[in-house]
Amino acid sequence: MISQATIQQILSRIDIIEIVGSFIKLKKRGTNYLGLCPFHNEKSPSFTVSPAKEIYKCFGCGRSGNSISFLMEHEKYSYAEALRWLAQKYNVEIEETAVSPEQKLVQQSADSLYIINNFAQKFFSDYLFNSEEGQNIGLSYLKERGFREDIIKKFQIGFNPEGRDVFAKAALSNQYNLDLLQKSGLVVVRDEKPMDNYRGRIIFPIHNPSGKVLGFGARVLKTTDKAPKYINTPENEIYVKSKILYGSYFARLAIDKADECLLVEGYTDVVSLHQAGIENVVASGGTSLTPDQLRLVKKYTNNLTIIYDGDNAGIKAALRGLDLALEESLNVKLVLIPDKEDPDSFVNKVGAAAFAEFIATNKKDFILFQLETSLKDVGTDSTKKSALVNRVAETISKINKAEDFTKQQDYIKQCAELLKIDEGGLHTLVNKFLREKITKEENRLNRDEQSYNNDNSSPQPLDIEDDAASLLNRDEQHERAIIRSLLEFGLKQWNEEQRVADYIFAEIKENDLEELIDNKSLVSVLHTYQTWYHEGLEPTPKTFLYNEDQVMSSLVVSLMEYNQEISPNWKEIFEGKIATREDLYKEEVFSTINYLKLRKLKLLMANNQNDLEKTTNPEEQIILLKIHQHLKEVEINLTKQLGTVIFK
Ligand code: GTP
Ligand code: MN
Repeated sequence: MISQATIQQILSRIDIIEIVGSFIKLKKRGTNYLGLCPFHNEKSPSFTVSPAKEIYKCFGCGRSGNSISFLMEHEKYSYAEALRWLAQKYNVEIEETAVSPEQKLVQQSADSLYIINNFAQKFFSDYLFNSEEGQNIGLSYLKERGFREDIIKKFQIGFNPEGRDVFAKAALSNQYNLDLLQKSGLVVVRDEKPMDNYRGRIIFPIHNPSGKVLGFGARVLKTTDKAPKYINTPENEIYVKSKILYGSYFARLAIDKADECLLVEGYTDVVSLHQAGIENVVASGGTSLTPDQLRLVKKYTNNLTIIYDGDNAGIKAALRGLDLALEESLNVKLVLIPDKEDPDSFVNKVGAAAFAEFIATNKKDFILFQLETSLKDVGTDSTKKSALVNRVAETISKINKAEDFTKQQDYIKQCAELLKIDEGGLHTLVNKFLREKITKEENRLNRDEQSYNNDNSSPQPLDIEDDAASLLNRDEQHERAIIRSLLEFGLKQWNEEQRVADYIFAEIKENDLEELIDNKSLVSVLHTYQTWYHEGLEPTPKTFLYNEDQVMSSLVVSLMEYNQEISPNWKEIFEGKIATREDLYKEEVFSTINYLKLRKLKLLMANNQNDLEKTTNPEEQIILLKIHQHLKEVEINLTKQLGTVIFK
C-alpha cells in the first residue's frame, strides 16, 4: 500500500492541466481550459478542465472527474497504478505503508500470484518453442490449426509438458511456495506429491487490461479425451472470473479506434480474429456476461457486438442479464455465425474481409432478436404471450436516459409490430413500468402518502401547504444539498462552540434524519466524512475527490459541479450585491436541514393518520389527535422558518 504521506505529496503536486494536457490538446478559455473530449467523438470541443476546482467535465458526454480518475479512465489504470504514474512524473519517492496483517497477506498473496504466473507463462512459452516435446506436440498442433508464430508469441501461448511434474519441479526449485502454486491452480497435490495440473495442455495466459497475467486457460489436444476441454485457473485473489474479459489487453486500442467491442466465446476465437486483423475483440469465456464485464466494456465503448455460434444453446443464457446493458446505455448488437462454425473456424474458412463484411451486414439488434426467439417459444399460448408482452415492455422501460428517447420510441414501434399488438398500448405499458420504477425509488414517505390517498374511504387527507409539498418533490436535490453543505461548509464556524459539521451531525442524530436519505451513496459520503472528522482530519471536497472509492469520488464531483443550482440562495440578490452561497452558508445549512426535518414530519404525520384510522378506541383517538395537532404546529413553524429564509 502506498502511504498516506506519499499520496499527500503526490496530490500537492498534481496539476490537472499538465496531466490532462499530456494526453489532449487544451486551450485556455477564461479561467478554464477547453479541448476535444477523449471519451467520445466530437468535432467542436466541449471538454472543460478547471484548474481551480481540479476537475474536468465534458459537456458533451457528461464525463467528469479529477486527475486520478482521468488517468484511470483514459489509461485504464487502477487507482494505485495512477498514483504510481503520478509519483514517477513528479519524482515523488513512494513509501509503502505497514498495512493490517490481513491486508498484507492478501496483497502479498496477490503479488506472489502475479510473480508465479509470470514465471509460469515464460516457462510454458519457452517449452512450446524450445523443447522437442513442445515443438512436436504443442506447436505443431497450433500450426495445424493455422495460428501463425507471431500471433502465438503475441498472446504468449505456451505448452505444459506431459510429464507428471516437469513444471512443478522447475517452480519449486526456483523457490516458489507450494501453497501459492496450488492457489494459482498450476500445481495440485496428488498422493502427497506435487503434480502439474495442466499436463499436456496448450496454455492460454489470461491478461488483465494492463498486461499482467491473471491466470490461464489450458486446452487438451485431443477433445476425444474424457478430460474437460479446458481447465481454468480457480478463483483466487487475482483471478476473479466475473471481472475478466479475455483479450482486453490486446484489444484496448482497437476498441477505442473502432468505437466497438466484439464479444466472442472462446480464447481461440479471439486469437484467430486478431490474426485476421480484427483486433477489437474480447471473450467472455463461454458464460453469460456479468455486470462487471459489461462495465469493463463500457470503459472502452458504448457499442457491444456479440458474435456467437448460430446453433449455440447457450445463447439465450448469454443474453440474459443484458437488460443491464440497456440501463447503462450500451448498444448491444448480435451476430450469429452460420453452419455450425464458430468465429475461429469461420474466419479461417472465409477470410478476414468476408468475415468483417458478414459481421457488418448481419448485425441484429439484441432486443428484437430476443423477442423473435421468444415469439417462437410462445406459439399460440395467450398466457405466455401476455407474459412476453409484459417482459418486452419492462425491457424497453429500462432505456430511460433522456438521450436514448428516440431509441426507445423505435423499439416500441418495432416490437409492437413483431408482437402484433397496438403500438399505443405498448407505449402505455412501457410507461407503466417506468412509473413503477420511479415509484419504487421514491421514499417511504411518498409511498405511505399514496396508499393513503388512494383509499377513498378514509377521511380527508392532511392539508399540507401546496408550496411545502412541491418543495418536497425535490427530495433528491435536498438530500444532495445537505451533503454538499457539509462538504463545502463543514469546517466553518456555526456558532462560537460549534462548527457546521458539528451542527449537522447533531441535528441528524437528534432527529434520525439519516434514515431519510434514500441515496445510499450519499449516506456513505456522510459516514466517511464523519469518520474522518472524528479522527481529527479536516475533510474537504478534495479529500473525497481523490478517494480510492470511485463511486464516492465521482458523486462528490457531481455534487460540486459547475454552476449547479441546488440552493434557493444561489445568486440571490442581497443588499444590492449578488450574494454568493459562501456569504449565505448558514442559511443554506439551516434550510437544508429543515427540509429534511419537514420530510420527517410528513412521515410521522402520515403514520399517525394511519394509526388513527385503525383504532376505534376513543382514548387512543384523542391521544393520536393531540399528536397530530402537535406535529401540525411544528410543521407550521418549520415551514415559516423555511419561508423566511427563502423569501426574505
Ligand atoms: P477450440 O475448440 O479450441 O476452438 O476452443 P473454443 O474456445 O472454441 O472452445 P468452445 O467454443 O468449446 O468454448 C468456448 C469457451 O468456453 C472456451 O474458450 C472456454 O473459455 C470455455 N470452455 C469450453 N469448454 C470448457 C470446459 O470444459 N471447461 C471450462 N472451464 N471452460 C470451458
Ligand atoms: Mn472453437
